Amino acid sequence: MARLVKKEHKSPLEIKAETKSMWICMCGLSSNQPFCDESHKKTLDEDDNKIYAYENKGNRIEVKNWEECYNDT
Ligand code: FES
Repeated sequence: MARLVKKEHKSPLEIKAETKSMWICMCGLSSNQPFCDESHKKTLDEDDNKIYAYENKGNRIEVKNWEECYNDT
């Protein structure tokens, strides 16, 4: 089973607890969910008008539309 999740954030969310900060992944690419592992840096040069998918190894591919993501062929 696969699940597609649309994410538009390119940086983490900072949560402050007393004197410590925690960084929560908002881009969806972290291997250490729910915490940021700096993988969001891969998104910094994304074009906001395009759609991208990231493969398990972190390779980015551009997709033309959401329907293309749903096709298994
Ligand atoms: S916000 Fe996702 S890895 Fe940093």
